[in-house]
Amino acid sequence: MKAKLKLAILVSGNGSNMEAIIRACAQKQIDAEVMIVISNNPKAYALTRAKKLNIPFEVLKDETEIAKTLQKLQPDLICLAGFMKILSAQFVKTFSGKMINIHPSLLPQFPGMHAITQAFQARAKETGVTVHYVTEEVDAGPILLQEKVAIQADDTEASLTERIHEAEHRIYPAAIQRIIHRSW
Ligand code: GRF
Repeated sequence: MKAKLKLAILVSGNGSNMEAIIRACAQKQIDAEVMIVISNNPKAYALTRAKKLNIPFEVLKDETEIAKTLQKLQPDLICLAGFMKILSAQFVKTFSGKMINIHPSLLPQFPGMHAITQAFQARAKETGVTVHYVTEEVDAGPILLQEKVAIQADDTEASLTERIHEAEHRIYPAAIQRIIHRSW
């Protein structure tokens, strides 16, 4: 049997994407396992989820500490899942090609912090979600997978946000599985 892809997940907040990845691993939808969850925020709800799901976690506020831990554990892939701190050029270089992120828009449209609000306020017909490799420029690395989400006439920002999150929870595990297929 092939070894499973070893994942580290970096979070700062709610952790719903982290949970979707952990569940996809447990249900064998993807040939991967989550070896560590790292939060830079001690109050992140993601930590409560990780504890419930029996996944090891650490709170590390400092980027140098995060880098040290990752270098010690040597994950095959680092997944940013609502990690709200911009990483330094040095950090991105160290883990180049091994770090991916999820963003709630069809990049290159609506990069940055308020992607869902911006798409909603722009009265765009559609928006979506993107999983991409992390490069020094924020929300701009090579795209791995995207899924479109239509914006309906009767959508509120809340209903749109809900459908975006549903799409995220499908696409993040699918993007990881795509990497696994490519690398073997
Ligand atoms: C998601 O919308 C993701 O695209 C963005 O931050 C949010 C994190 O949500 N990068 P959660 O913490 O996974 O629930």
